[in-house]
Amino acid sequence: MKVLVVGSGGREHALAWKIAQSPLATRVYCAPGNPGIASVADNVDISSDDIQGLLRFANQEAIDLTVVGPEAPLCAGIVDAFKKAGRLCFGPDKAAAELEGSKAFARQLCQRHRIPGPGFWTFDNLSMARSFVDNRPDGPIVVKASGLAAGKGVAVCKNNAEARVAVTECLEQRRFGEAGRTVVFEEFLEGPEVSLITLTDGETIVPLEPARDHKPVGDGDTGPNTGGMGVVTPVALMPRMLRQIETQVVFPTVHAMNREKRRYQGFLYAGLMLTTQGPRVLEYNCRLGDPETQPLLMRLKSDLLPLLLATAEGKLSTVEAPEWDSRVAVCVVACSGGYPGDYKKGVPIFGVDRVATGADLQVFHAGTQQRGGDLLTAGGRVLAVTALGDDLHKARDKAYAALKQIEFAGMHYRKDIGLGAAKA
Ligand code: AMP
Ligand code: GLY
Repeated sequence: MKVLVVGSGGREHALAWKIAQSPLATRVYCAPGNPGIASVADNVDISSDDIQGLLRFANQEAIDLTVVGPEAPLCAGIVDAFKKAGRLCFGPDKAAAELEGSKAFARQLCQRHRIPGPGFWTFDNLSMARSFVDNRPDGPIVVKASGLAAGKGVAVCKNNAEARVAVTECLEQRRFGEAGRTVVFEEFLEGPEVSLITLTDGETIVPLEPARDHKPVGDGDTGPNTGGMGVVTPVALMPRMLRQIETQVVFPTVHAMNREKRRYQGFLYAGLMLTTQGPRVLEYNCRLGDPETQPLLMRLKSDLLPLLLATAEGKLSTVEAPEWDSRVAVCVVACSGGYPGDYKKGVPIFGVDRVATGADLQVFHAGTQQRGGDLLTAGGRVLAVTALGDDLHKARDKAYAALKQIEFAGMHYRKDIGLGAAKA
């Protein structure tokens, strides 16, 4: 089988790495890929947003399965375009991807189908949004841009003054562009967080292992939110909580999408807060998480390709459930100085080739570029080290020891990935 992976981040490096191990894969391409991906697949210089360009390539090379990593092409309808052309493409179609593309839609879906989430209020009018803030009792509230904002469109506000600033940035200054045309206010919830990603063809539902992301940039969950600074998996959940997540959130969401004629096929990511009243949906993503994918795929013992193929073909019930390595995986992301704010690109990276990688340790590239013999930074999240260990501390020690061998000017990473999980 010829496979095309679409994207260029750490998630796509992990996807290409895992797919390339499949005995079914004869050739793996990645568009546009990155220097790390080049060691496991053939990079093709087509942007992940160039749907027509990707389709032309898929036709020309007779690609059997295209696997889409990021949300933007999914929300823009890449699966619909491929389907129309008779090419198999893994991921939700445009109507289903709206679950991530519009937080307002996701919240309303939950409300219509009684899927538990925070109370919410949506506005696209600035003065009405301001007046909502002015008329509520002072206290914490969450302000979100409704559209796609690369994980940065969420402001967790301690009080109404902060909420006013967030509203102004979103609706008036258009900090998130079109993505911020509508603002969603959410009741502030508290509790440990967990991400549960599920593979589904709209009928059969296969939850992957629970994972915990670390979104804020600083240790102890301080500072602004990022796309994700590190992940630990599995997360020890009470069996009752896992059952509640499945029966109150995951199954009803897939069924709700069917009832609304938006059959969901692909990875469905539920970001959840585990409150004392039970799980609450914080967000849905229409794809695998980044960096959740890296540690999850290192723990996945089964061949990924038959699972992806069967999902895209609507035959997931015919494939055996995935098997997982019972060890703990910890993934730590190294970022450019300044991220998630402004940062420089083109900074030389040293030491990646010093890291002794293998089945238990991988360096997945995200924002890197190759110039001549030099590896340079090319994004905010530059690369991530993922390690497997018999327990959390062994996995952490291995990941952090590897990270110490890598350096670039301005490099920063969280030192506490996984430690909150032990506490929670
Ligand atoms: P999201 O991208 O919507 O998952 O939001 C990013 C992060 O903001 C989450 O991982 C939470 O830590 C926090 N957050 C989002 N929504 C809420 C909420 N309603 N209450 C408290 N924290 C939230
Ligand atoms: N790591 C969070 C996400 O992929 O949305």
